[in-house]
Amino acid sequence: PTVLAVASEIYPLVKTGGLADVAGALPLALTELGLEVKSLMPAYRPVLAKLGDAPVAEVLAIPDLFGGPARLLATRQAGLDLLLLDAPHLFDRPGGPYITETGQDHPDNWARFAALGKAAALVAGGAVEGFQPNILHAHDWQAGLAPVYLAFSGARRVKSLLTIHNLAFQGAFGAEIFPKLGLPRTAWSLEGVEYYGSVGFLKGGLHAADVVTTVSPTYAEEILTKEGGMGLDGLLHGRGDRLVGIVNGIDTEAWNPATDPDLPARFTIDALNQRGLNKRALEAEFGLASDDGPIFCVVSRLTWQKGMDVLAEAVDDIVASGVRLAIFGSGDRMIEGAFLAAHGRHPQRVGVKIGYDEALAHRIQGGADAILIPSRFEPCGLTQLCGLRYGCVPVVSRVGGLADTVINANYAAVISNVATGAIFAPVTAKSLHDAVVRVAELYRQPALWQAMQKRGMATDVSWTASASRYADLYRDLLKEEAS
Ligand code: ADP
Ligand code: GLC
Repeated sequence: PTVLAVASEIYPLVKTGGLADVAGALPLALTELGLEVKSLMPAYRPVLAKLGDAPVAEVLAIPDLFGGPARLLATRQAGLDLLLLDAPHLFDRPGGPYITETGQDHPDNWARFAALGKAAALVAGGAVEGFQPNILHAHDWQAGLAPVYLAFSGARRVKSLLTIHNLAFQGAFGAEIFPKLGLPRTAWSLEGVEYYGSVGFLKGGLHAADVVTTVSPTYAEEILTKEGGMGLDGLLHGRGDRLVGIVNGIDTEAWNPATDPDLPARFTIDALNQRGLNKRALEAEFGLASDDGPIFCVVSRLTWQKGMDVLAEAVDDIVASGVRLAIFGSGDRMIEGAFLAAHGRHPQRVGVKIGYDEALAHRIQGGADAILIPSRFEPCGLTQLCGLRYGCVPVVSRVGGLADTVINANYAAVISNVATGAIFAPVTAKSLHDAVVRVAELYRQPALWQAMQKRGMATDVSWTASASRYADLYRDLLKEEAS
């Protein structure tokens, strides 16, 4: 297979969440399996600024793309073969990939990401000399129109996949944009982009793609239910057996406790005691009292999806159980405020940092004893995988990819020595607190605890297995084409 991957964020060029990690790491793993992959993303202002003196070649000029000239730039960064969609009228501006500096959606997001989809279909149609993909792999709503434009372009030789990373974000826009998309009138239909009277980018892509995947088997089941389907469960049911759940991996080079330059002390399974130095450093960094009890951490977007309001509600009880908290992230102002207030009540028991910082995320995973992930829903989740790899025991809610990647320390798992963390349900302050107490008790049995940490560290959280599954899917699709 020759793959064109399409995403709105790719680590290390631009990242707002796990999508960027996946879009940055999966192509590398596929390349190692011998596939050719190019990744298409918008040339946002900070992306162009990051290119430095890497050679950049213009490989396609598009005279008019949603109101201005555009071109595709080919370059290489961090081992990735990139095609950057340079369209200054759409992407050369301040703010983030989706929101302005003041936190509003860019008003022309429909055009910005329709442009991404349109450009993808052009490349799939052979517009870039010397590169003819036979697989178009689109990620999330921002790339949702890529399979749609492809389907209507008549380029039948290229098969398409759409991966859902988060069904909560669907890219729905007013019906008035439909005529501006340049799609045939038949696309305004149940099988096209029409969605309850508006234009749905994700909805259209889910119909048009040859295969739909999502990032864990449990999430693949959850989105078929009324509660988890966010309005799209009916459509997803219609896709029948063409909905596949494949768990994410993480970049095990970037997340390697034996070589991590961000850690005060590096460590391995066989030299786990070194980890203690990171814990002391973490106490100092978060202003926590030093004692021999456990530190539970958070590295997360501070949002409702992540159950962070529930944690805020449980903080006082957690502190009363003798546990310290190191909370790091940013997001919802109310939740940030609730954590800062908790720090005010328990200055030496609850450390809080608001912000975004990759190096700090590494130091926390390398020093805390456990990571709390009380998500209300979680398509896959990556921080529990980082936690496993770093001996930071994941304590997670029983949803989506969290349920698929952690082995709960219930009685059977503990006596047969297979547990790697703790799973709780439902997502309430009480059951979260109960889980923390249960895990703190395990922590007080050092031999058992260390064995659990080591099993986590020995768990394969790399991309190897999952990249092979994507490669197999691609091959199956191409076989269908041949037969
Ligand atoms: P989501 O994409 O829903 O936010 P994931 O668990 O898939 O959740 O991915 C989150 C990614 O962002 C992980 O790589 C995590 O380490 C990182 N991350 C989250 N919050 C922060 C932060 N405040 N600083 C640095 N990295 C963060
Ligand atoms: C989304 C999901 C998260 C997943 C990530 C990468 O951000 O919220 O669960 O890990 O995408 O697939």
